[in-house]
Amino acid sequence: MQTTTVQTQPISGQKPGTSGLRKKTRVFMQPHFVENFVQSTFDAVDGVAGKTLIVGGDGRYFNAEAIQVILRMAAANGAARVITGTDGLLSTPAASNLIRQRGADGGLILSASHNPGGPDEDFGIKYNIANGGPAPEAITAAIHARTEEISEYRIVEAQDVDLGHPGETSLANMSVEVVDPVAAYAELMQSLFDFDAIRGLFASGFTMRFDAMHAVTGPYATAILEGMLGAPKGTVVNGTPSTDFGGGHPDPNPVWAKTLFDEMMSDAGPDFGAASDGDGDRNMILGRNAYVTPSDSLALLAANAHLAPGYAKGLSGVARSMPTSRAADVVADRMGIPAFETPTGWKFFGNLLDAGKATLCGEESAGTGSDHVREKDGLWAVLLWLNILAVRKESVADILAAHWASFGRHYYSRHDYEGVDAAAANAMVADLRDRLAGLPGSQVAGLTIEGADDFAYSDPVDGSTSTGQGLRILFEGGSRLVIRLSGTGTEGATIRVYLERYVPGPDGLHEDPQSALAPIIAAAETLAGLKATTGRDGPDVRT
Ligand code: G6P
Ligand code: ZN
Repeated sequence: MQTTTVQTQPISGQKPGTSGLRKKTRVFMQPHFVENFVQSTFDAVDGVAGKTLIVGGDGRYFNAEAIQVILRMAAANGAARVITGTDGLLSTPAASNLIRQRGADGGLILSASHNPGGPDEDFGIKYNIANGGPAPEAITAAIHARTEEISEYRIVEAQDVDLGHPGETSLANMSVEVVDPVAAYAELMQSLFDFDAIRGLFASGFTMRFDAMHAVTGPYATAILEGMLGAPKGTVVNGTPSTDFGGGHPDPNPVWAKTLFDEMMSDAGPDFGAASDGDGDRNMILGRNAYVTPSDSLALLAANAHLAPGYAKGLSGVARSMPTSRAADVVADRMGIPAFETPTGWKFFGNLLDAGKATLCGEESAGTGSDHVREKDGLWAVLLWLNILAVRKESVADILAAHWASFGRHYYSRHDYEGVDAAAANAMVADLRDRLAGLPGSQVAGLTIEGADDFAYSDPVDGSTSTGQGLRILFEGGSRLVIRLSGTGTEGATIRVYLERYVPGPDGLHEDPQSALAPIIAAAETLAGLKATTGRDGPDVRT
């Protein structure tokens, strides 16, 4: 089998963002685009000679082709072994688990997460390191630097490897191992949760709907919920992965999982509802007539995790991304454990988890996870909820109400302005950043500003710092406004406005969130001039 060294030139725009390199699929389909990025990744990690890599993706359009290119390049670069799932499918948390469990040196995950898939939609490639987590900024910066100077890549000339069945083959001198994508992951879940208790819950007539959104968690949810836990057939809907996610937008939130959301907001709905995203790392949690915000879910899981066997010994700490509401901090404070505030992006949790400083992590962007892997994990969150429901034997709405009564409620909403002109969005943020220092003490929309800064993070484990992570404005009484630009979009800029208001209770715990947040929404408009910048009357998406 022949190894070819192909001459190439740098292709601009290969800079990894919040979560790897994400672009329109057609950009990835350009000649040399995948090859340049993959070779740059290999080069940035001192090559892959003799190494074992996990490679897999969420099954979106162009996954199959890109995986074959990666296999041929890994072989040409001397990798010893590549492990992938049947048909190249691996959910992101399952890939993270395999990296750890198989002692791999790293992995490549092919996904654009919750973004739609298809020839005119989105694609992505992300490199994960040996701890199973996304590469830290030092590595993504090295990859980017390499893409700007690359002059050649190595690839073997070969037929496509058949990935249709578990088993082992070889490509040049490299072993290619195809594994059942679900097996190791299901075993890990079984080691963390009380499957007998959850089986008992379903046996007692408890009803659930899991919307896999035509994405990668379909096979995982079907095998675990319906297969191992005895949930009735039909509990999992949209469970067959498709290359374009059934033409949908696989983001588990009230907007994009509207059918499930509407079904749950009725007295006739199931007891419990959940959904996961394109690559299986995000989750949405619902009860009958109850929506649990991701921020509340993190707080609630932190307060109840000890009810599951895997967390019975308690938590070492809780970490959340800065824009995530401070509900989890209140729980951590009560429990006497540390709470960490990191920049947006799961990669920032890696060091805290590795060092044993945090056990649970979560983000407002529908990500929750723990130290069992180094990615957020949609189905894990669903199973932890199920374990808690099986033990507490209360409804989701009652558990939520009890939580607010005990800890107070952080009303929370995120307003997104998508596809905004990038120059205008950057100018708006820069202008507000320049005014931050003068804001404390002033009044806006009837609220007094207590503090304002541009969030910077200093990693307590390796001392690295990350600046410019989002504008924070704190109001008297515990309300907060955060504004930042998304790092995961593929077109124009997305402005994210995060709104939070703390109500200690006992009164005022059951208001409509948008009304409860009205003063902060007004303050955001006055401070940032969102209407003028975007030319729109309001946000495109409210979650
Ligand atoms: C991905 C990352 C998350 C992050 C989210 C939102 O899902 O894995 O860690 O919170 O994107 O990022 P963005 O920059 O678009 O707000
Ligand atoms: Zn995802």
